[in-house]
Amino acid sequence: MGYQWVDCDRATVSGRYDRIAGLIPLFDRLFFLPRGMRRKAVANLGLKSGDRVLEIGCGTGNSFPYLREAVGASGRVFGVDISAGMLRKAARRRAANDWRNIELCEYDAAEYRAPTPLDGVLFSLSYNTMPHHRAVLRNAWDQLRPGGRLVIMDAKLPSGPAAKLLLPFSLWLMKRTMLGNPLIRPWQELAAVAGPVDMSECLFSSYYICGATKPWRNVAAAEAANDDSEIAAAHRIAAE
Ligand SMILES: C[S@@+](CC[C@H](N)C(=O)[O-])C[C@H]1O[C@@H](n2cnc3c(N)ncnc32)[C@H](O)[C@@H]1O
Repeated sequence: MGYQWVDCDRATVSGRYDRIAGLIPLFDRLFFLPRGMRRKAVANLGLKSGDRVLEIGCGTGNSFPYLREAVGASGRVFGVDISAGMLRKAARRRAANDWRNIELCEYDAAEYRAPTPLDGVLFSLSYNTMPHHRAVLRNAWDQLRPGGRLVIMDAKLPSGPAAKLLLPFSLWLMKRTMLGNPLIRPWQELAAVAGPVDMSECLFSSYYICGATKPWRNVAAAEAANDDSEIAAAHRIAAE
């Protein structure tokens, strides 16, 4: 039997998240998110102090503590989300922690442009909830500086016969809760845009973290882009 997912429009997605924003603290437990998963996903970005990182579909800011720790007080964290209800909670969390370098924006991630090139982009449990995920991915990849990393952390159907058993339940549950399409394969979409992808799985392959590094440009391309730090890096790499 073939199963299908019917995408919702963006207003339905934002309306759903506005309504469930208060329940988000329960969701990590309800969906058995493995302990340490967010920390691991952020570590995979390879950020350092002073870096600029974007979380796409940041929701209530569950990953902010790890992002903020990774870039320090001198770095910048951008959070974009389509749901005003989720962002209100993120803003409360930011105020309670006095995180002054976190900038929130209510926008569709397919059209959002960060104010500066990015050292890292994170999708944490958000990629599958975006009906136009490929456009969002291309837009994010485009804003990453060479050498920067893009990481997707999410749930997936386990491999093998278990997937067939779980698929009807998974479709039913996602339709009623997060609107996350379990039929897509984000790691393949990332590979199509970015080239080589690293991937790790846990909890019987039901959660994964995949990531890719944006390649450096060669000297001619860096000079055409007219970016001094890239030109210097391209010369250094060419000389190695
Ligand atoms: C399951 S929540 C994950 C929230 C958060 N990243 C976390 O780890 O807890 C998915 C989030 O993606 C957001 N989202 C869905 N479609 C979006 C879009 N097109 N642009 C921006 N955010 C979007 C939703 O509003 C929601 O806050």
